[in-house]
Amino acid sequence: MALSLTLPKWYDLHTHLRQGALLKPIIQSQLDMGCCGVLAMPNTKPPAAKVFKDDPLAYWSIEEYRAMINAAGGDQFDDFITPMYLTKDTTPQMIEDGAKAGLLRAVKYYPPHGTTGADFSYPLVDLLKTDVIKALEDNNVTMCIHGEEHALPGEAYFDRETNAEEFFYRERMPRLLDAFPNLKIVGEHMTTKVAVDLVLQAGDNIAASITPQHLIYTVGHLVQGFKYHLFCLPLVKFDEDRAALRSAVLDPNNTKFFAGTDSAAHTVKATDCGCAAGCFTGGIAPQLYAEGFEAAGADLSDAQTAKAFEAFLCRIGPNFHGLKISEDTFTLTKTPQKVYKTPTDDGDITPLPIGLGHDSVSWSLSL
Ligand code: DOR
Ligand code: ZN
Repeated sequence: MALSLTLPKWYDLHTHLRQGALLKPIIQSQLDMGCCGVLAMPNTKPPAAKVFKDDPLAYWSIEEYRAMINAAGGDQFDDFITPMYLTKDTTPQMIEDGAKAGLLRAVKYYPPHGTTGADFSYPLVDLLKTDVIKALEDNNVTMCIHGEEHALPGEAYFDRETNAEEFFYRERMPRLLDAFPNLKIVGEHMTTKVAVDLVLQAGDNIAASITPQHLIYTVGHLVQGFKYHLFCLPLVKFDEDRAALRSAVLDPNNTKFFAGTDSAAHTVKATDCGCAAGCFTGGIAPQLYAEGFEAAGADLSDAQTAKAFEAFLCRIGPNFHGLKISEDTFTLTKTPQKVYKTPTDDGDITPLPIGLGHDSVSWSLSL
């Protein structure tokens, strides 16, 4: 009989649900892969960068974005977190009022102009001159961080000795931790050994999300034939980095590294002047994570290994974010499952395996 794992429904703690015609099919793809909830990133157009609808700032509010998500099927989730996008207009008062109203549980820092939808963000060095981060710490609001330094020249952005993520985790993150020792931080979509090591050495107030693509692939897989469906930010890195991610998630004592797919739909990946960053893994992320564990040498038929997998996918993240573990379950079975594109009124979304020339995954999922 094929190996099967029955797991609590899980929270995808870093995803992009988008908006408009994409919202409904993407939420459905999250439900289809056993999610009982998500953390939905705010880099919409306009960004979700204020809490209340009646705030006059010209952004979407968390209130409005939550209503859109609920109307498009998000009401089927047990719970979902909608972080607020940090901009030049964010104030400590917004943080305090949002937290007191129970609407604001997290915020998102983007490196200005550093990735898809990051054009409204405000540099960390400037944020540090305000009382915004103090307000996060005081109100127990989690700071979700896209940890890459912005505006670096090409040589420093991605080079043999350094890259934008390493710069951020060497130069910026230690200062943030020193200045705000009780701030809850998630280092999102971690890709480098430097970042993993920092999280391992820091206190329990800092944790990290890991995507399937960063567990499975290296930059070599991207550049060999330029497989642009694997182009996401931060970029997939080197074997040594992937090994650090793998050993962090396989550790039976892991309490800090959890699943967050960064599933980011683009109906048009290759553009006239480059390529949109983002890998879509909606519908198939648990299967890809299982493949990632196996590629790292894990035997998921071993009870202790299966426990580490369950902790990574279903327990560590909700524990960190204060979400209730679901009593419902879903099952992964070691039999291949065919993968399909997700049709939307804005065009098809190509999931990662198809973008890499594979039309199936080696695990199947049933609800
Ligand atoms: O690859 C990425 N895609 N990285 C991000 O930070 C944003 C995301 C998106 O929204 O497409
Ligand atoms: Zn993201």
